[in-house]
Amino acid sequence: MKAPRILLGVSGGIAAYKAAEIVRSLVKEGADVRVVLTSRGAEFITPLTLATLSGHAVARDEFHEEPSPVIDHIELAQWADVLVVAPATANVLARFAQGEGSDLLSTIHLAFKGSVVLAPAMNPKMWDHARTRANVACLEQAGEIIVSPESGFVACGDEGAGRLAATETIVRETLLAAALSDAMAGKKVVVSAGPTWEAVDPVRYVGNRSSGKMGYAVARAARARGAEVILVSGPSGLASPWGVERIVVESAVEMRDAIFSSAAGASLIVMAAAVADHRPRERAPAKLKPDKGKGYSLDMVPNPDILKELCAARERGDLPTELTLVGFAAETGDAVRKGEAKREHKGCDLLVANDVGAAGAGFGSDTNVVTIISATGRDDLPLMSKLEVANRLLDAVDVWCRAR
Ligand code: C5P
Repeated sequence: MKAPRILLGVSGGIAAYKAAEIVRSLVKEGADVRVVLTSRGAEFITPLTLATLSGHAVARDEFHEEPSPVIDHIELAQWADVLVVAPATANVLARFAQGEGSDLLSTIHLAFKGSVVLAPAMNPKMWDHARTRANVACLEQAGEIIVSPESGFVACGDEGAGRLAATETIVRETLLAAALSDAMAGKKVVVSAGPTWEAVDPVRYVGNRSSGKMGYAVARAARARGAEVILVSGPSGLASPWGVERIVVESAVEMRDAIFSSAAGASLIVMAAAVADHRPRERAPAKLKPDKGKGYSLDMVPNPDILKELCAARERGDLPTELTLVGFAAETGDAVRKGEAKREHKGCDLLVANDVGAAGAGFGSDTNVVTIISATGRDDLPLMSKLEVANRLLDAVDVWCRAR
């Protein structure tokens, strides 16, 4: 197996001295490491240290200092499997989020097509600042992996979150990103996300509280593993993840049509959407004017159960038997038992059950607490980010596919 090729960006914060340890650990784990040092970074750690530990000349903005020929940013971007920046200063996060190409590191970032791992380190007030939060959210949205800083005392004496994550954590995340970067290459994945809106009239709809975050995280995680991803999304305020084809739909019927017309050649379909079970029998052509002060009833009819229809189509042979089908079940209380019953009833391979009433779980939250249920067992996961849940789910799909 070829050694993972890691490009380490080192920017100008006091934690830059820890880059030496990161290079050493990555090399020890068998990685081929090259370093890009920003001019500010070079004020905290010498190029000689990093060149000696990595065994390669260090790429810098000030090429004239190097005896070797100019190292092309495009060449470096093409060479690497993973770009990891540790420490990533607030300035680096801002430049990356803006898509700047103002120095060697930011131009490499723009030209790079693989997984990006960012380990921020800065003063806690800077880490907390609304702009930094927005930059981090923007980079995460683009599928970049943030290794969050730890809490504690930072070099300037302040206390709070901002200290560079532990070397082992950064190394682990980097090697994981390298290992996963093409784990799903050549695979097509269809993911549904968000709520559906079932129109009552041109103004009103019946909907639910789903934010779409879980499904979007699954789409991002599958893309990061090299899959071709189609995201069929109900109405959601979320931006389309990088590298993913998004089809925006409104109702359950539209979602079913989009999923069935995307299913050809898919090896995995994940139904993370909170599909409305019912819709008004008819969409009134004009705004309804019920008598004020009086109640009124909506005549609701059942929607197609998309997941059940997918399972039935596979059973009939209209979809390939190798297709893996995954459902979600958002419950309030007794989620695992209800999830197990639901998996059997729908006929899907895996089902992710979560109690939307539990702390840190459910609609709108960035974290989730889930149990992944299959025919052969279950895995109760602790509280984690929705992106981590997505990755654990893709791992479970992998295990499932190998076992069947
Ligand atoms: O039956 P329930 O809505 O709890 O099932 C949840 C699972 O079934 C989710 O994976 C959801 O995306 C899917 N579903 C569906 N079509 C429906 C309702 C739910 O595909 N009409």
